[in-house]
Amino acid sequence: MKRLNNHRAALVIAALIVSLAVLLGALTAPPGLGAADRNPDGSYTGTKLDGTTPAQWRLIWEEDPAHAASVSWTTAVKPEKSSVLYDTQPRNGELAKYAHTATASSGRYSDKDFKLWYNHAELSGLKPATTYWFVMVSDGAASREFHFITAPEGDAEFKLLYGGDSRSDRDARRTMNRRMRTLLEEDPEIIALAHGGDYVADGEKMEDWVEWLTDHELTVTADGRMLPVIPARGNHEAEGPLYDEIFNTPGKKDGNFYRTLIGEQFLLVTLNSNISAGGNQADFLETVLHENEKTRWQLANYHRPAYPAVKSPGSALEHWVPLFEKYNLDIAFESDGHALKRTCAIRGGKQADDGVVYIGEGGLGVKQRTPKDDRWYFKGGVAASTLHVQKLTVKKDSLLVESITDKGKVYDAHTVKPRKR
Ligand SMILES: [Fe+2]
Repeated sequence: MKRLNNHRAALVIAALIVSLAVLLGALTAPPGLGAADRNPDGSYTGTKLDGTTPAQWRLIWEEDPAHAASVSWTTAVKPEKSSVLYDTQPRNGELAKYAHTATASSGRYSDKDFKLWYNHAELSGLKPATTYWFVMVSDGAASREFHFITAPEGDAEFKLLYGGDSRSDRDARRTMNRRMRTLLEEDPEIIALAHGGDYVADGEKMEDWVEWLTDHELTVTADGRMLPVIPARGNHEAEGPLYDEIFNTPGKKDGNFYRTLIGEQFLLVTLNSNISAGGNQADFLETVLHENEKTRWQLANYHRPAYPAVKSPGSALEHWVPLFEKYNLDIAFESDGHALKRTCAIRGGKQADDGVVYIGEGGLGVKQRTPKDDRWYFKGGVAASTLHVQKLTVKKDSLLVESITDKGKVYDAHTVKPRKR
């Protein structure tokens, strides 16, 4: 009898713990999602893959984010027809009321174990600095309504996030995704995230992408604003078709390098450090920098560092750094090291006040390593071991880069003044 009572008591306690965890999950997960979206321990489980219900959504920017964007999502079965319905005013998911439609292309992700379908809708002819409300629809199954804001045009002031390496620590990745969501909620001037690569541990496994995409949903704000991603390839997704199937082939196929112009005076060149840094990629970089030599702010984003905090330099040092210096790039964002870094300004292999500054090293969801802070280029710079994301504040008379930790603390702030161009 006593044993039976103990058994009952244990059951009641277990039920209480599960209820508490579900309640906690409901309180901490993004509003707009129900308790069914929580795991029993309260963690976020993401939109369920069920039939053609749109899940694992992401919004991708490439060359011209003032006028174009890709909305992509996953369905568990093959849809006959997928599209994005969108408008410049909210329609609360009433499908008949949206003014515009973009038909999506669909296909099966290249993974023999996972039978899932990607859907890519390319929105074009958009107005700059405009809020678009949209729903994703696959065979009549619709997502809730989201919105995003297109990039500004003209000589605009705005904010942008940069971060890389979200591949191997899901708890840290969720923490940083929530941090980015909080930043976006506190600061609606943030327009997008430039990702420096190494999203997942094995970019040729859909299982890893399913987890990344599920966690990515946590970047959506309470009122449904999506954070556009400007993606770069890392070495953990160096090869295979899945990267292009996730991000709708940013840049050319088999290259994935491209340039993004935000307004008239901000250039971001996204490079691919997994293929030859010389040859046609170096030619592309030189052409873009030459065409934009009068653009006030010039930045680059690629995965493997030229001036690393942890490992040895990649081929960016030989092929890209001379071009950065020739055209007076302001900042090169680098990932891969799993640390936080900002170098001194560098020109010709030594400190120079008019040199290029290298910032980043990857802190969006990986265990942080100990940086080699005795390297010469950290004199006057920063090398630390903390999860982080960079926030850029782009103004006409200054460019501020703040490195913000998982706790929301500004660990480092670096201000650049416009060069004479
Ligand atoms: Fe890496």
